[in-house]
Amino acid sequence: MANLGIRILGLNLEHPVLNASGILGSEPEHVDILVKHGFSCIVTKTITLEPRKGYPPPILIELDNGGYLNAVGLANPGVRGICPMVERARLLGRPIIVSVGGGDLREYVEVSIKAEECGASGVELNLSCPNVRGFGLELGVDPSMVYRVVRDVASVLKIPVLAKLGFSDKVIESSGRALEAGAAGLTLINTIKAMYIDVYSAKPVLSNKYGGLSGPPIKPIAIRVVYDVYREYRALIIGCGGVSSWRDAAEFILAGARAVQVGSGFLRNK
Ligand SMILES: Cc1cc2nc3c(=O)[nH]c(=O)nc-3n(C[C@H](O)[C@H](O)[C@H](O)COP(=O)(O)O)c2cc1C
Repeated sequence: MANLGIRILGLNLEHPVLNASGILGSEPEHVDILVKHGFSCIVTKTITLEPRKGYPPPILIELDNGGYLNAVGLANPGVRGICPMVERARLLGRPIIVSVGGGDLREYVEVSIKAEECGASGVELNLSCPNVRGFGLELGVDPSMVYRVVRDVASVLKIPVLAKLGFSDKVIESSGRALEAGAAGLTLINTIKAMYIDVYSAKPVLSNKYGGLSGPPIKPIAIRVVYDVYREYRALIIGCGGVSSWRDAAEFILAGARAVQVGSGFLRNK
């Protein structure tokens, strides 16, 4: 059998397929499910300092074009949820990367420190959540904020820092600033801000009105972003957006990614 092993972020991974953040919840049993499905490295749902309830339903819509629209609202147990998930992954012999969210610089730093203390293999800074005000998208589209968050976190951690960015006109500049600030690599891309209106009720379907579009409809955009960012910086990139087959993964790798993350493709097939 072909050897698909890769070495990234100081980790020897069996193959280049990780799960995307947020695809399951934040309990240790969710780690079990992801390991059972064969992901070579686990990525947690985005964790904030304090627990968050998230939005009331509906929070996830399956679209008829193969995509999903979600506005979960960063529901998570707060930092106290990190250690149990990390311990579970370590017990199962899988590295785990903690996805970190924050409403300000201090929160990103504190959650990241907790992830390192719990024994995580790395952190992925969610700089691109499109559906929670103050958490992400506004940060990710401002290259100088991206620089400050990554610098503040990378300067206090020993474990590697990934910056997860979304699609914006500034994504190439933000990627460069993240790398300059000490990011070991980039995860590209997050969901894209979108909306679905039900024509019978004449109202947006998601309780939050706006959501993040994911799945096959965003793949060509993600491929383009990975291609452009790799061409510019030759950096470590984990491609994300619409991967649901080996061909999709191969396409990301041809565009310049070293590994891929699978989100909606897992939801559809689990
Ligand atoms: C239900 C759902 C929840 C998500 N939650 C998070 C999250 O907590 N943090 C994050 O960085 N990305 C989150 N994402 C975005 C995914 O990690 C991924 O970037 C995006 O869905 C594109 O990949 P895909 O097309 O394979 O789904 C979420 C996506 C979905 C569908």
